[in-house]
Amino acid sequence: MFTLQKTAGEDFRILNFSDTHMKKSELAEGHLFRTIFERTVSEAVARVRPHLITVSGDISWSGDDAAHAWLADYFDSFGIPWAPVMGNHDNQCGEAFADNIADIFLAAKHCLFEKGDAALGCGNYVIVIEENGQPVEALFMMDSHNRYTYTDENGVSHNTWGRLNEAQKVWYAEQNAVLRARGCSDTTLIMHMPMYGYFEAAAAAYRPGIDWANLQYECQTDYPAAWRDGYDSRANGVQYEGIGACCVEDGVMDMLVDGGTTKHVLVGHDHINNFCISYRGINLCFSLKAGPSAYWRPFLNGGTVLTVTERGVADVHHEYVNCDDLLNTWT
Ligand SMILES: [Fe+2]
Repeated sequence: MFTLQKTAGEDFRILNFSDTHMKKSELAEGHLFRTIFERTVSEAVARVRPHLITVSGDISWSGDDAAHAWLADYFDSFGIPWAPVMGNHDNQCGEAFADNIADIFLAAKHCLFEKGDAALGCGNYVIVIEENGQPVEALFMMDSHNRYTYTDENGVSHNTWGRLNEAQKVWYAEQNAVLRARGCSDTTLIMHMPMYGYFEAAAAAYRPGIDWANLQYECQTDYPAAWRDGYDSRANGVQYEGIGACCVEDGVMDMLVDGGTTKHVLVGHDHINNFCISYRGINLCFSLKAGPSAYWRPFLNGGTVLTVTERGVADVHHEYVNCDDLLNTWT
């Protein structure tokens, strides 16, 4: 468990980047992807002036240690704490590779990271933000793994996106109890993969029949008349791709609702979704993706900001970074 100090009377700003995805071949000085990535992160940092940077997974591709090391050095260069979680691609080469990536993080001067109990995956830890000795916010940083295999009622095996496992639910409850005992009543879960509840939230909030495929470049932050009655004031954003969550109910929404402290969830994984929907009392958000590596939409490029006051997270918003001028020089 890490502790960071919030100054009384000032906001504490957390800036999240997701799905950086840089790989070794893109690290050369002057490479367009590197140039756009560096513009994106440095401009967002300059605007937001965060006290903490978080990175919600798919930092690079497992097995590409040079890229993880480069990204660790890059985030370290801002001289403020930064805290990553593993994404499916960071995990895709198995436990030994993930452990090696974790060692790279642990060697970085400003990186907050704990491997934690291996039964939980790699990198499950808590960051507490205190003001005058009292916790005002805590971040659950969790590993949502790579894939999940299950057998259906006909005995057929299926493979779907990763999810929090049962040991992680026990760990969450234990950590949450410790935080509550310390008077912490506001927490945020940051992980890579959306959970099953994102399907439910989107189905509850969006009106059916939105033709996202034909709206690819029309809407950045909202689609007019997208929301069902009651969601106008508690949802925003777009969903340009299918939600990449485990397709089997994972019980995570119930875990969070029962825990009583988590008011926000921030995930990545879906590079071109950026919605935030308040569902069952919890704000389920997609972070913006940073940079063009893998796939992206230039108008959904940037980072996502959590503003913490003495009462916990008071605001979540996307900080867009326009790189059209760089794209226009791309030949
Ligand atoms: Fe990704």
